[in-house]
Amino acid sequence: MSDTSPDPIDHATTLSRLIATHTARLTIIGQGYVGLPLAVEFAKGGFPVTGLDTDRDRVTALATGRSHVPDVPSEELQALLKAGRYRATTDAAVLADSDVIVICVPTPLGKSKDPDISYVTTASKEAASRVHPGQLIVLESTTYPGTTEELLLPLFQANGGTIGEDLFLAFSPERIDPGNAAFKVGDIPKVVGGVTPACSRMAAGLYGEIVPRVHEVSTPKVAELAKLYENVFRNVNIALANEFSVMCRYLGVDSREVIDAAATKPFGFMPFYPGPGIGGHCIPVDPLYLSWKMRLNGYQARFISLADDINHSMPGHVLSLVGEALNDSGLAFKGARILVLGVAYKRGIGDTRESPAFEIIAALRRKGAEVSYADPHVPALWVDGAPIKAVDVTKDELERADCVLVLTDHPEFDYAAVAQHGRLIVDTRHRVPSLTHGRGRLVRL
Ligand SMILES: NC(=O)c1ccc[n+]([C@@H]2O[C@H](COP(=O)([O-])OP(=O)(O)OC[C@H]3O[C@@H](n4cnc5c(N)ncnc54)[C@H](O)[C@@H]3O)[C@@H](O)[C@H]2O)c1
Repeated sequence: MSDTSPDPIDHATTLSRLIATHTARLTIIGQGYVGLPLAVEFAKGGFPVTGLDTDRDRVTALATGRSHVPDVPSEELQALLKAGRYRATTDAAVLADSDVIVICVPTPLGKSKDPDISYVTTASKEAASRVHPGQLIVLESTTYPGTTEELLLPLFQANGGTIGEDLFLAFSPERIDPGNAAFKVGDIPKVVGGVTPACSRMAAGLYGEIVPRVHEVSTPKVAELAKLYENVFRNVNIALANEFSVMCRYLGVDSREVIDAAATKPFGFMPFYPGPGIGGHCIPVDPLYLSWKMRLNGYQARFISLADDINHSMPGHVLSLVGEALNDSGLAFKGARILVLGVAYKRGIGDTRESPAFEIIAALRRKGAEVSYADPHVPALWVDGAPIKAVDVTKDELERADCVLVLTDHPEFDYAAVAQHGRLIVDTRHRVPSLTHGRGRLVRL
């Protein structure tokens, strides 16, 4: 008797073909700083892409062609909407009709500075409840080592069949640097680690369609750790530069001059610069995902905790610089008019998440200072529930301030004008040129 049962479906071949022909239907969960540029990159590559987000206002804006991410111009979004290659929705039902699902939701810290993995869990459960054979799921959110295999794998395994045959699961960290015009999402090599070799190949095939190079690693954990190592590297080196600047102050030396001199070495040195602290959703946060996991393994990640301590001591250091500078001018914090230039966590963008500006402004106000701020990328600012007055950087505002405090070195600021009209300037970014007149004082970090 001949076997009449149909041939089993070869999901790997079918999905690979959909990816290679750019007909695979993609859903990117989370349309923030990471998910939106990624969705747009795939859509520009010809894939039909849906951006899924729980934030109704964000989805309404995206669906009408208004981008909230500076790296994604609204015109680009509008063209993709018009071409039918991008759409935005809050309806998770779209996951059931997707061939590829990429998860780009936040991974913040909880109140006790432990990982808050709740967004990844919720998004993964949404996807797992609708999973069907023939899908590729990739987690891009930065997270602790083991998340893909410990959290996602059981969810998808329970619903989707055999991983590596029916369903493909991988981790691929996002490495974009918002505001960096030289390296956008399509320019940066992707690291990919699948749960099985077939999962890795599937995810590598997908990203290979939009980036110049894909680096496959043996497991999702290697890929998760690669991302954390990159950001621990930055965090630790920023902490080193911060502590170095404090030491240089004791020695009466300008730290920037030393770092610039060291940076002339063409090998074995990469310059990092001091600042008022660290901010953003990544550098202050991600290393703590690793140290948390290491604590569970009975190991204390010493470099990470030292760097965290030093970086978080910088707002206090900036306050003492301002206090000393006011004092030297015969002034006190109480009643001093302080103009803060830049409140975003880094230059050229409007992201204020974890920005040290909050801690510094809150402390200045507690001490009785009258604080205003200017930031071309941040139109309104609330600190501890109270608004901060936003001003333009005019000659009058600069002259009116008892102290101009540069926290973020946005390229839009006219630093020569700051030097010309500021009476007392505390510059944490080394952007204000040396004063050529005798009326003011410039203090650098
Ligand atoms: N911002 C960066 O520069 C950067 C760079 C590399 C990696 N990352 C990592 O990428 C991840 C995302 O970061 P981001 O900066 O894009 O965050 P974001 O806050 O800008 O965007 C996240 C989006 O996810 C949405 N969201 C949350 N839960 C959801 C759910 N269950 N379903 C659908 N949408 C949901 C939110 O509404 C928000 O729009 C984080 O893990 C972060 O560490 C960020």
